[in-house]
Amino acid sequence: MTANEPFILALPKGRILKEAMPLLKRAGIEPEPDFSNEDSRALRFKTSVPEIEIIRVRSFDVATFVAFGAAQLGIAGNDVLLEFDYPEIYAPVDLGIGKCRLSVAEPAEMSEKDDPARWSHIRVATKYPHITQRHFAARGVQAECIKLQGAMELAPTLGLCGRIVDLVSSGATLKANNLVEVETIATVTSRLIVNRAAMKTYPHQIGDWVENFRAAAEAA
Ligand code: PRP
Repeated sequence: MTANEPFILALPKGRILKEAMPLLKRAGIEPEPDFSNEDSRALRFKTSVPEIEIIRVRSFDVATFVAFGAAQLGIAGNDVLLEFDYPEIYAPVDLGIGKCRLSVAEPAEMSEKDDPARWSHIRVATKYPHITQRHFAARGVQAECIKLQGAMELAPTLGLCGRIVDLVSSGATLKANNLVEVETIATVTSRLIVNRAAMKTYPHQIGDWVENFRAAAEAA
């Protein structure tokens, strides 16, 4: 980007976006009206602040846009940050939104006689193969991961795997699919993320936005 171009703030689609909107407002950023129009196919939006534009992308892609410097700022869960572990991303503010956990779950009937301490090899359906492998390797368990993008909860019942690793919030999706949580791998909240090179190039402007978001999160 050049000095006259706006900063790009990458926001995740879906439920985090709803929680992020009041925070954005407190940080002094109001998206243009088209942003709230569900029929709109636009993905990039102006805001009430000329130096900030917003893009709306999938949660995993927020980290990718910011890591490669295509967006200077973003909102991403620490689940996404742990999965990618991009060195180019700095995550200075826990925004306190998107609270949930990343957990291992299995069919209720299986868990009755199951002891996670005795696992040596497991097959897991997940969007998070790196976190899953790291988590289990640390205690000598080999995790064979099958990558799915969603609807993970179907996989054990249909015989794709024995277990899943996925986000759990209310627990309703697990319950509806007759699964139970057997381990929590990480607690998750959303963070303000910043591209490190952009922070070095524009320390005052980006630093001011980091402080605006910090104040907005603290005011919640
Ligand atoms: C997430 C997650 C679970 C569900 C858990 O999916 O992957 O399926 O929410 O929430 P609960 O514990 O409150 O039921 P989401 O609905 O965000 O859609 P996704 O599968 O597209 O990620």
